[in-house]
Amino acid sequence: MADRVLRLGVIGLSRAFDLTRPTLMADPRVQVTAAADPRAEARAAFSSEFGAPAFAEAGELLEQADVEVVYIATPHATHTELTLAAARAGKHVLVDKPMALRLADCRAMTEAAHEAGVRLLVGPSHGFDPPVVSAAALIASGELGRPRMVTAINFTDFLYRPRRPEELDTSQGGGVVFSQAAHQVDVVRRLVGARVATVRAATGAWDHGRPTEGAYQAFLTFEGGASAALTYSGYGRYDTDALMGWVGETGGPKDPEAYGDARRRLLGASEAELKAARAYGAPREPSPSPIGHEHFGFVLVACERGDLRLTATGVDVYGPDARRTLDTPVQAATRHGVVDELWAAVVEGRPSIHDGAWGCENLAVCLAILRSAAEGREVAISEIEDSP
Ligand SMILES: NC(=O)c1ccc[n+]([C@@H]2O[C@H](COP(=O)([O-])OP(=O)(O)OC[C@H]3O[C@@H](n4cnc5c(N)ncnc54)[C@H](O)[C@@H]3O)[C@@H](O)[C@H]2O)c1
Repeated sequence: MADRVLRLGVIGLSRAFDLTRPTLMADPRVQVTAAADPRAEARAAFSSEFGAPAFAEAGELLEQADVEVVYIATPHATHTELTLAAARAGKHVLVDKPMALRLADCRAMTEAAHEAGVRLLVGPSHGFDPPVVSAAALIASGELGRPRMVTAINFTDFLYRPRRPEELDTSQGGGVVFSQAAHQVDVVRRLVGARVATVRAATGAWDHGRPTEGAYQAFLTFEGGASAALTYSGYGRYDTDALMGWVGETGGPKDPEAYGDARRRLLGASEAELKAARAYGAPREPSPSPIGHEHFGFVLVACERGDLRLTATGVDVYGPDARRTLDTPVQAATRHGVVDELWAAVVEGRPSIHDGAWGCENLAVCLAILRSAAEGREVAISEIEDSP
């Protein structure tokens, strides 16, 4: 173990934690020292795997001197209260996306961290994926001129993964806009590197049995003139992983023959039981090792003098005279970029990209998507930011 490590406590031991867990275990800069979750099964699995205490209440974890950073991986609606409590307890915070469900809550979280003198980061999210980071750096270098036009398309089975009832109710943060646009907006904002100015969007809620947004299209304009077209469908039919060499969203191999599996599994089954079976602590086969980076589907950036296509292994660069590939090494700890940013913030005191203000703006764009679709008009981000 290195001399200086981030002593990290996890609040919420389920799917999100399970996806981040390999990185937290593999990265020598992190020591996971405690956890909190009301589910006894998850607590037992955690204590046995990490040899560390697991509490039923987040408040008990926040009393631990051995926790300097908390990773909040609980349902969206709990992010604000837990972040406020963590900041008041003097803990740095990594809160999963979306940061919260209301801008006022995002601002209160940012303010609480500022007042407590702790750092607040929002993630993991696909804006941390190595190809996004490489492409953003190349764009920022100016080699290809200004980014002008981003196309981002992701077709998944998100809506048919086992869900809690709240996850299918938009008023409680359900649906693909809160959960998935949070990623896609994060990616395109990282690439364009400017503030979003306006949003025109349409959303789809096409399955009466799962009555929340399962799809959206959004056209974003940015300050400085760039634009982005975002398409997302979680209805489990076409799969954009076909365009990513059958590398799945979390970097593992994807079986093209598994068509329709997500919808089929729900038939006649208890959704709560299916959900529990996917959560941390349930007996499962180990996940296959990553064969590519985590990704969020097809992303293509047109700059003034070249195009960039993000792939599962790097970035294809279509320059003025030649085409080249930027390979970015695939690591078993696919989320090391999150630890990089956390370390830079907490240990080195450097500014963060994914700070509270960034998370607020991501949410503002998601709220603008919902409002634009509901009102059938283009919405300025300033309207969302100025709403009570
Ligand atoms: N970044 C990613 O790749 C990713 C992936 C999945 C989910 N997420 C995000 O992570 C969050 C959690 O998602 P999930 O799918 O793991 O949710 P989930 O419903 O599967 O699990 C939530 C867990 O939090 C626990 N919990 C609830 N309230 C708690 C509290 N007050 N204190 C401690 N534990 C509590 C529950 O018992 C459960 O174990 C969501 O905000 C989601 O958007 C992110």
